[in-house]
Amino acid sequence: MAQKVLLFGDIGIDDTIALIYAYLNDEIDIVAVVADYGNISRKNALANIQYVRTLLSSEATEEVKIIVGAEVPMTGELPIYVPEIHGEYGLGPIIPPLNFMDGVTENFHEIVEVIHSNEDLLIVNIGRLTSLATMFLLYGDLMRTVNGYYIMGGAFWVPGNITAVSEANFYGDPVAAQVVIQYAENVKIIPLNVTEKAIATPQMVDYIDAYGNIDIVKPLLDYYYKFYKDRNPTITGSPLHDVLTLMAVIKPEMLTYERLPVHIVQAAEGTERGQSIADIRQFLTEGEEMPRKHQIAFQLDYQQFFTDFMTVMSGQRFN
Ligand code: BDR
Ligand code: CA
Repeated sequence: MAQKVLLFGDIGIDDTIALIYAYLNDEIDIVAVVADYGNISRKNALANIQYVRTLLSSEATEEVKIIVGAEVPMTGELPIYVPEIHGEYGLGPIIPPLNFMDGVTENFHEIVEVIHSNEDLLIVNIGRLTSLATMFLLYGDLMRTVNGYYIMGGAFWVPGNITAVSEANFYGDPVAAQVVIQYAENVKIIPLNVTEKAIATPQMVDYIDAYGNIDIVKPLLDYYYKFYKDRNPTITGSPLHDVLTLMAVIKPEMLTYERLPVHIVQAAEGTERGQSIADIRQFLTEGEEMPRKHQIAFQLDYQQFFTDFMTVMSGQRFN
């Protein structure tokens, strides 16, 4: 039976590829998508979810509930969007039908029913953690009934992608990230350590474009790649942070994890804001509390990622 997933995301380019991957994959059943602000606005996230659903229209995708998530972070700041990475609407050069941006019917409370009515549910968070943290603040008991959490975020002893040490999803709302890290059980953190290695090369993208059935994959990933290539000319493709996180749900051997205490730096500004720290000391200072331990992914088996991604996205057999 397919694994049921409740997805929280800021649906820009790599979130959209993750959504397409999930819709094309019989092993994953997306029961609802929570549209959050993040690298793009919540309004754009909502439009993009609806647009992708029309592109992959089927009985199964029609049933996917769309939930209106957070519009701003818990820090009280205004969000900062990144059109240079994700495009003006979050889909690179593509403009989704503008009527998808009309009016927003707030329905956040419906997440409760989604969680109640789906047994063996996993939650995958591929954007800022504001909506997910809100659920922990309001519905702690309910959140303990969820089977597990897969969180794209953090950078452990590797460079960040916002500051020298901080990753975008944790940096954007470190308060929310810490709430989730503090209260969630059965968490797998999928940090930049592994997502930066989940590379889609231009050759892979061309193959998917030639054999797959979804025309928007190439324009999305060409746009995304251009940003990464301009920033780092030695890069061989673009990192699919969010696809890897969703794939981790059904490919447990693809990643190697270590269970360590984690906390998120709460600085309001500066290099260390949103930094994810794993504590590898063998002892605690007297009076100090041990932060909650979580599984952190440190190694990726790229061949498994490649085979699964290419098979699902192109519809061809890869071994
Ligand atoms: C995260 O930020 C966004 O660029 C991606 O969608 C991913 O969720 C990577 O830091
Ligand atoms: Ca994302």
